[in-house]
Amino acid sequence: MEVYLDNAATTKPADEVVDAMVKSLKVMYGNPSSLHRKGVEVEKEIKKVRKLLAKALGCNEKEVIFTSGGTEANNLAIRGLVKANSRKGNHLITSKIEHKSVLSLFQQLEEEGYKVTYLDVDAKGFISLEKLEESVTKDTILVSVMQVNNEVGSIQPIKEIVKIIKGKNSDTRIHIDGVQSFGKLKYSVKDLEVDSLSISAHKFHGPKGIGALYIKNNVRMMPLMVGGGQESELRAGTENVPGIFGLGEAVRLSFEEQEKKIDKIRKLKKYLIDTLKENLEDIHISTEESEQYAPHIVNVSLKGVRSEIMLHSLESDGIYISSGSACSSKKRGYSHVLEAMGMKENHIDSAIRISLSYINTVEEIDYAVGSIKKHLNSLRKIIRR
Ligand SMILES: Cc1ncc(COP(=O)(O)O)c(C=O)c1O
Repeated sequence: MEVYLDNAATTKPADEVVDAMVKSLKVMYGNPSSLHRKGVEVEKEIKKVRKLLAKALGCNEKEVIFTSGGTEANNLAIRGLVKANSRKGNHLITSKIEHKSVLSLFQQLEEEGYKVTYLDVDAKGFISLEKLEESVTKDTILVSVMQVNNEVGSIQPIKEIVKIIKGKNSDTRIHIDGVQSFGKLKYSVKDLEVDSLSISAHKFHGPKGIGALYIKNNVRMMPLMVGGGQESELRAGTENVPGIFGLGEAVRLSFEEQEKKIDKIRKLKKYLIDTLKENLEDIHISTEESEQYAPHIVNVSLKGVRSEIMLHSLESDGIYISSGSACSSKKRGYSHVLEAMGMKENHIDSAIRISLSYINTVEEIDYAVGSIKKHLNSLRKIIRR
């Protein structure tokens, strides 16, 4: 039996996604910039995808830029907004639990002379709104926070965050890493009132290497890549057409009966947490079932057993999960997120992340928890000896 429970790392591309990509490779292979029919038909299809994505995000199609994924979308927004606003100030704000594609960039910007405030989080994975308010000054040109954390699933209250920032400095630009939230939470970027938001197709059954950035109309942003003027001159380079076609299908599928799908994932998450609690002793679940957490991520520490050992033990039973401490920072194998949450070292060392999709089933969860129990018991016995 193969049980894939690592959907926050990546998801299996849907059949419809693969078919759309194959169509672009075999039939609709024209360059969208070409003036002839072969190009125009592709350009039209890209326009359809842009429109669909804009509808899903709640924005205008002119506000959508295709990128090579979440990492590029974050880089383009953050560096692009900083560069466009650097005459207004040199202070930037982010949080300590951001994805590496954000944190590494802020470290680079720091080296280039910008002042960066890294906001702490509490034990549950939330930034302090008071601290945020204190941190915003007239020099703050950009704040970047993630909507859903990829390791524990905490959801930052974006609307409140925006209100606080704008209340202190209406010129401050706000970027949201929406990679783990797109399709999992219902929102519209217009309603959130943010300046930019990044998404990545492979997190919602689309292909890898394609994503997008929402950038609010009339917000000035410098491109990272210049050349042929594609994507409103904000991201040059011939479009990744197979990727865009695949992304289109993934967006369509994600938003088809979206509520039903989200509800299914939430129920699976509750079932998983309940089953873990019923079957295992000495565990610590860092993810709650409440609405403050994303529906698809469960982070659990299995005291006494290092996460990598559990990961490979589960793999031998055909079960795929992540080590909760996957995104190491300074120390190898040490999660900067769990560390920022102030978790004990033995909890961090033994944390695993199980992440769900609407294609998972209760039977798969039963099988996975049974396997965790089996390995946990035997590994703990060996360790105690
Ligand atoms: C929160 C978050 N941001 C950004 C990324 C990067 O996205 P991509 O893999 O498309 O570059 C990821 C992927 O792991 C993520 O989880």
